[in-house]
Amino acid sequence: MIREARKEDVNSILQIINESNRKSFSQVIPKEYFRQPILTLEDLLQDFEKMKFLVYEENGLPIGVAGFYVKPEEGVCRIRWFSVHPEYQGRGIGSKMMEFLQNEAKKLGLRKMRVVTLREAYWAVNFYSKCGYREVERIPRPWGTDVVLEKEL
Ligand SMILES: CC(C)(COP(=O)(O)OP(=O)(O)OC[C@H]1O[C@@H](n2cnc3c(N)ncnc32)[C@H](O)[C@@H]1OP(=O)(O)O)[C@@H](O)C(=O)NCCC(=O)NCCS
Repeated sequence: MIREARKEDVNSILQIINESNRKSFSQVIPKEYFRQPILTLEDLLQDFEKMKFLVYEENGLPIGVAGFYVKPEEGVCRIRWFSVHPEYQGRGIGSKMMEFLQNEAKKLGLRKMRVVTLREAYWAVNFYSKCGYREVERIPRPWGTDVVLEKEL
């Protein structure tokens, strides 16, 4: 089941984001730049004020999460913190969350989805490409290259 996240989901959300991030990004980000954990409870609570979160729940437990916020003046839905717990990856959960999120954006009258990831994160670039996202910009960073990916709805 996919549903809007509630405040009581914050600890599960934090665990999903931090564990999936540590397992995947530690392979591609140089040690000196690899921040651990990527997200603190304090930061997540601040994000809860600024954006909405969806969770994918299985047997009563959140195992996937997607944050998003809207830039109404651009008609764009910006995706943040899109993650599936490492034990549940590769089972189509991310694809289902993406479909749900895009439908929510359409209902809000938005025309475009946007996400930023790291070019070196080949699994994420593959995932977004499979979902129909195309690269629109590259931004060099000391730890790699950010890629901005977009999809018209
Ligand atoms: C990216 C992520 C959300 C995908 O979720 P998922 O539930 O595993 O994705 P799905 O099972 O729906 O996979 C859909 C497609 O994504 C691609 N993909 C997913 N995992 C992949 C991997 N490890 N390597 C290469 N491609 C991958 C494939 O094209 C896959 O299609 P296929 O199964 O037909 O080959 C998940 O791997 C994750 O949380 N990763 C760590 C955090 C992260 O990188 N988040 C995004 C960065 S902003």
